Amino acid sequence: MTNQIQIRKPDDWHLHLRDGAMLRAVAPVSAAQYARAIIMPNLVPPVVRGDDAAAYRQRILEALPSGSSIFPLMTLYLTEKTDPGDVAAAAATGLVRAVKLYPAGATTNSDSGVRDFTKIRPVLEQMAEIGLPLCVHGEVSDPDIDIFDREAVFIDRVLDPMRRQTPGLRVVMEHVTTAEGLDYVRSSESGLAATLTVHHLVINRNHILAGGIRPHYYCLPVAKRESHRQALHAAAMSGDRRFFLGTDSAPHVDAAKESSCGCAGCFTALNGLNILAQIFDEAGKLDTLQTFVSLNGPAFYGLAPNEVQIVLVKEKTPVVFPGYIMTGDGPVTVFDPGFPVYWRVAE
Ligand code: DOR
Ligand code: ZN
Repeated sequence: MTNQIQIRKPDDWHLHLRDGAMLRAVAPVSAAQYARAIIMPNLVPPVVRGDDAAAYRQRILEALPSGSSIFPLMTLYLTEKTDPGDVAAAAATGLVRAVKLYPAGATTNSDSGVRDFTKIRPVLEQMAEIGLPLCVHGEVSDPDIDIFDREAVFIDRVLDPMRRQTPGLRVVMEHVTTAEGLDYVRSSESGLAATLTVHHLVINRNHILAGGIRPHYYCLPVAKRESHRQALHAAAMSGDRRFFLGTDSAPHVDAAKESSCGCAGCFTALNGLNILAQIFDEAGKLDTLQTFVSLNGPAFYGLAPNEVQIVLVKEKTPVVFPGYIMTGDGPVTVFDPGFPVYWRVAE
């Protein structure tokens, strides 16, 4: 029985750090487990221009206590008015590593996102030319489309036509939740990848809705039926270079989650790696954990994997995680996988 493994330090290819007091509380939590992170730009107001990204990056670095570090890989929030020249300039300096596409109305702070996809063609063409990846929140926001179908419909209506119109555009389908999404990613030999979250590997829609409504399991895209979760599980553990970890750890204070109109997001930054080690171990797939959390992501983004190593240790008794972390804005509940986790990170 394996009770210890050493792997290259992981990266988080999709992370929400927020701003202000929340940023100061959650940035050190991610820094404890991850070397680098792709930072989501859906602040209020959003991180639209290169200058915004530079200022936000500075605030992130200032939020980290001494001795704690995470390397922020910044993204720009794509709007219908985004200037291709500004994107190219921000990418040329290495400041910005990707651009994020939110269909307007699809999720938290997506109001400034895209309604008319023809308006972003010049930016996408520029990105294809310079090889800058597009991170996509792959859901339509059309109220006529059932919320459980929004990812599959997005692929047909938006993503596939967009990729055909823009040859060479590198795309990350973020937080894929369906077998259709996985199949779509597998259908492409290059230039297309997907991030998978910890929570979508753990929960299905029953966790949210059966036996009472559990707001801390509500996120977007919403978790689907069990067969989809199993497909995600298999993809994460397959070693396929097109799949890698992006936690989408998305902190909201409890008051905003436990509400008549609760916010979407699971806070998995604190125990995500522990949970992954547990589920890979249970599946007899610890040998592919490093590929998923530390190798496939940098390869897609054209970066070297981290040289620093971490050690994961399996304890005899379950690791006890705090139920919440306290932030200057209020408590944020820590994701509860609903099963005992024996793995801890020992550096
Ligand atoms: O659950 C989610 N939370 N999904 C998203 O797409 C956004 C995120 C957030 O920013 O809260
Ligand atoms: Zn997200």
